[in-house]
Amino acid sequence: MDDLALASYWHIDSAPARRRFAKSLLAWFAAAARDLPWRRTRDLYSIWVSEIMLQQTQVATVVDYYERFLRAFPDCRSLAAADEAQVLRLWEGLGYYRRARQLHAAARQIVSQHSGQFPTTFDEVRALPGIGRYTAGAILSIGTDARLPILEANTIRLGCRLTGYQGDPASTAGQKHLWSFAEAILPMRQVGAFNQALMELGSTICKPREPACDQCPVAEFCQARAAGLTLQIPTATRKMQYEDIAEIAVVVRHGPAVLVRQCQPGERWAGLWDFPRFVGTAEAIPQRVAELTGNKIAPGARLTVLKHGVTRFRITLEVYAARLTGKRAATNTAVRWVDAAELAELPLSVTGRKIANLLAEESNGKPAESAVTIARSRPAIRRSLPSAAVRRG
Ligand code: ADE
Repeated sequence: MDDLALASYWHIDSAPARRRFAKSLLAWFAAAARDLPWRRTRDLYSIWVSEIMLQQTQVATVVDYYERFLRAFPDCRSLAAADEAQVLRLWEGLGYYRRARQLHAAARQIVSQHSGQFPTTFDEVRALPGIGRYTAGAILSIGTDARLPILEANTIRLGCRLTGYQGDPASTAGQKHLWSFAEAILPMRQVGAFNQALMELGSTICKPREPACDQCPVAEFCQARAAGLTLQIPTATRKMQYEDIAEIAVVVRHGPAVLVRQCQPGERWAGLWDFPRFVGTAEAIPQRVAELTGNKIAPGARLTVLKHGVTRFRITLEVYAARLTGKRAATNTAVRWVDAAELAELPLSVTGRKIANLLAEESNGKPAESAVTIARSRPAIRRSLPSAAVRRG
């Protein structure tokens, strides 16, 4: 414990106090827990999928994705046997696609190294792609009651307030303080419920701006509350610096087919498909489409404008129609002409899917040209972002 904490956390720093803390928290959780699908299982594979989806994505968004994913891939073996495109298609819209690629890679590793059974020791779980200290602790504590601490966005705030920590929670010292607190308060039994109760309390009661302290089952242990500093703790971390970028996407049609390209490793949305797309202005369309796909085209009307946020980028995407002026260039594995049915099967970026939907509407009789759509934001991620930056890949 360091001096940035208001006092030592003596309120919880004795065995009887810890027992009282756990008892109050668990009783509250038993009564107040949301009924979430991953809380009805102790299957480590299912819990793992939920935890990966819940990284950077809100509970309400995850529920449907989780259920669809588990219907398609009920265990490690079925996930390992899938194509990456199938996995990405089920992840489409959830963003941070690296999570899906790593989940898939980890499933293959579990089949090759653990006979398809999700491992049960911390070190083995931690060694899998995409699994850090938090995720390993969450899976094993929730699935097996292993006595492992957890620390994620909601419990960081909660831990800062309970201990009155006034330093930067993201600093090395802050992380050390919070992990040791998360470890110190673990009960001997019901660790899975306890850890989930901490997360639930952080997300539903101990909220960033309007904490409902009068409903908090552990308010008596809260140092921030005792000092009247609930709204000052945790200390605000550095704000995200946003960058505006202008991009162009081009809908090149030829008969019933439309030209698409797969995003390459190292590009944003690697593995997903999209309409030929680049950073720049409309003048560059013929040259950039030729470079990206090998096709000669003539640009046409602007179809729509989409606003889209990905991590720290605020993208304004202008979508143009174009027609092919030469022969169709030979396709390869990363450039294809697809019809509407194939487009529906491919994993697309969020804006790629919006454009595909617009084309489908157009072919059903609604005019796409000149329709200017400003994509509405949906708060799918946990961090609060300015509205234009909320939707992701
Ligand atoms: N966030 C991360 N894991 C969670 C869980 N198991 N329940 C609720 N929110 C979470």
